[in-house]
Amino acid sequence: TIATKDVELGEGDKRGTRVKVSGRIHRLRPQKQATFITLVDGYGHLQCILQGDLTRTYDALTFAQGTSLTLYGELKKVPEGQQAPDNRELHVDYYEVIGASPGDEDAITNKVSHAQNQWDTAMLDNRHLVLRGDHAAALMKLRAHTEWAFTKTYHDMRFVKVSPPALVQTQVEGGATLFSVPYYDETAFLTQSSQLYLETVLPSLGNVYCIEKSFRAEKSLTRRHLSEYTHIEAELDFITFDDLLDHLEETICRVIDAVLDDPDTAAFLRELNPDFQRPQRPFLRMKYADAIDWLNKQDPPIPNEEGNPHVFGDDIAEAAERRMTDIINRPIFLTHFPVEIKAFYMKKDPSDPRVTESVDCLMPGVGEIVGGSMRMEGYEELLAAYERQGIPAKDYYWYTDQRKYGTSPHGGYGLGLERFLAWMANQHTVRTTCLYPRFMGRCKP
Ligand code: 4AD
Ligand code: MG
Repeated sequence: TIATKDVELGEGDKRGTRVKVSGRIHRLRPQKQATFITLVDGYGHLQCILQGDLTRTYDALTFAQGTSLTLYGELKKVPEGQQAPDNRELHVDYYEVIGASPGDEDAITNKVSHAQNQWDTAMLDNRHLVLRGDHAAALMKLRAHTEWAFTKTYHDMRFVKVSPPALVQTQVEGGATLFSVPYYDETAFLTQSSQLYLETVLPSLGNVYCIEKSFRAEKSLTRRHLSEYTHIEAELDFITFDDLLDHLEETICRVIDAVLDDPDTAAFLRELNPDFQRPQRPFLRMKYADAIDWLNKQDPPIPNEEGNPHVFGDDIAEAAERRMTDIINRPIFLTHFPVEIKAFYMKKDPSDPRVTESVDCLMPGVGEIVGGSMRMEGYEELLAAYERQGIPAKDYYWYTDQRKYGTSPHGGYGLGLERFLAWMANQHTVRTTCLYPRFMGRCKP
């Protein structure tokens, strides 16, 4: 058996030879003299032609989209003036049906080229069939390659990959979105971020990264919130805040280059988002305080969640963030958020203790795709931060110890893979970028 991808015309040994191909019927065009089948096997598409008696058997008459079969025949170049994937077609002389199919799959899979349909309950219940469609398949292949591109980029930068636990006893991004699970005689949580664990291995491994699942019990249904998502996190030792921003911009751009360097993946991306362009460098860097002014100065002004003008200390909510990225229309590093609206571990700006050395990377169409910061270095300062946020210091002894056993200026970030993909592939929601999305109210299939 050869995969359709490997069926190649040329001077080589396969030209004019009899081949065997297995796959499923993707499209079916019965005509008077011949039946045309587009076979799909995950590697690609192959046009196959059945002629004469072969088209009149019971099996051939009941072929439907989804039917799995093995075809035997001669591989030929398509005649001048006709079209087929890769300009080749299989002239079938024998076939075996492996599994019939009811043939109603098309009604489901073809609808999803409109990303909006992902909100549809039927679409989500039938995700296992939706994934057979071209659109979903292209996205999953883009996803696989993008994840590889991150791995390659970190490897090239000499970062060490680690695999922190998913079952934990500490929160990182606030207690409100923790999932708890029974754990023998105690209660554990599903991790919100591997950051704290990454910090613990800086002394022995140097710069580190991980690609793990993070879990958030998000109680709102938005286009960009999932309960389970793939979190790409990195942590860097002995750096400044500017080093962190430079590294983040470089990483994002190298990943995009690695994605586009692969011709197949670049083609998938072009199909999904014909307007995709490499981001303009350097990314725009804007302080939170300036963003607040910017929002208020728009005509009409972009209000906060209560409908009032933004004031220093307000969260920049999803809607305002989205408006901002749509208007500015290029990547933005939003920096120096107020201490009150950020996590306990963030380092304060030495020149303005009201704000933190923090960054969110915002992308057009999605908003925040990365959250990062420099980390508090001082032992006493960290204890005070626990106290302020009502965090039980004793559960964090292993994290606090990093400040006791030779502290260092360090920082890192987390990037949501689904949001990164939603930006690249211009998806309406992050849900289309997951194999089986999980969000409030959905935990199947
Ligand atoms: O901004 P967040 O909460 O930051 C952290 O978790 C840090 N501890 C990361 C670090 O410094 N190592 O999350 C980081 C990113 C967000 O920018 C977003 O892309 C993604 O994770 N994210 C989500 N993606 C999908 N669904 C959700 N519910 C998400 N919550 C965060
Ligand atoms: Mg964030």
